[in-house]
Amino acid sequence: MNIREMQEAILKLKKETGTAILAHSYQAREITEIADYTGDSYKLSVDAKGIDNENILFCGVHFMAETAKILSPQKRVYLANPHAGCPMAEQMDKEMIAAIKAEDPDRTVVAYINTTASLKTVCDVCVTSSSALKIVKAIENDKILFIPDCNLGDFVKKNCPDKDVKLLNGGCPTHAAVSANDVLAAKAEHPDALFLVHPECRPQVVELADYAGSTAGIIDFAMKSDAKEFIIGTETSIAEHLQYDCPDKKFYPLTKNLVCNNMKLTTLPDVYRSLLGIASGDGSAAEIIMDDEMIAASRKCIDEMIRLGG
Ligand code: 13P
Ligand code: SF4
Repeated sequence: MNIREMQEAILKLKKETGTAILAHSYQAREITEIADYTGDSYKLSVDAKGIDNENILFCGVHFMAETAKILSPQKRVYLANPHAGCPMAEQMDKEMIAAIKAEDPDRTVVAYINTTASLKTVCDVCVTSSSALKIVKAIENDKILFIPDCNLGDFVKKNCPDKDVKLLNGGCPTHAAVSANDVLAAKAEHPDALFLVHPECRPQVVELADYAGSTAGIIDFAMKSDAKEFIIGTETSIAEHLQYDCPDKKFYPLTKNLVCNNMKLTTLPDVYRSLLGIASGDGSAAEIIMDDEMIAASRKCIDEMIRLGG
């Protein structure tokens, strides 16, 4: 079966099984093409809440499918490749944060959505990179503990100078591996290009940017800008999608190493096989299973994110 034939088969199986496909913007084009909903993690969380389909098949990493399950507990939610996890989401656990809270109880705990459901149960509000500034500004308490990403946290801290933001030492291994020298090299090669960056990169990289924002923010900025050339400082798939959508502009990945290997684990055959598994009910599709107690306890801070960020 070639790619087009497999996409056709997927579209048919989607209909037959009542499945909606949600794909994060870091997924390959052949996957976003057959998805019902695409976007960054904030948009997909909101989309997951309003879906009518019986089944949701998530193409992304584990915490994203978990978030979809928490927001749509009556649906069966599947992850297209069960091995796709986000290393940042595993860096801190509930016990660690509960211990820090016990020592410093006056802080509102703000968790990047890239965290496990278990950790979310001890947090006050979630944020995504597109909603972090708005939400932290809207929190009445001036004392914040921001976890786990210290780079996104630093970006929030600098843009919310009235808040006392405490950070811990976590972050995205893919974005944090980029250096200021990578930026200088890309700028030397493309002197007319604007540099757009995701705030998961280190502060010394973000400082060199013409625009810093979430995946959706970068896409929106590049599409609306009158500029013709852009260096894209986030996962390389975003430069590829933008190049496809805006053929009259030029997009350069900041470095070819800015690849999230976890996001790249999911392939079109994974999507096809998952749908065959959903159709046959043979248990081969990777369903997200969570008990009601965990769903209720982890949902509070996601609902709070949607309330403050909406
Ligand atoms: P967004 O919140 O921009 O979708 O980013 C998610 C992510 O994992 C970025 O690395
Ligand atoms: Fe996690 Fe980084 Fe991959 Fe995003 S890019 S899913 S934060 S490892």
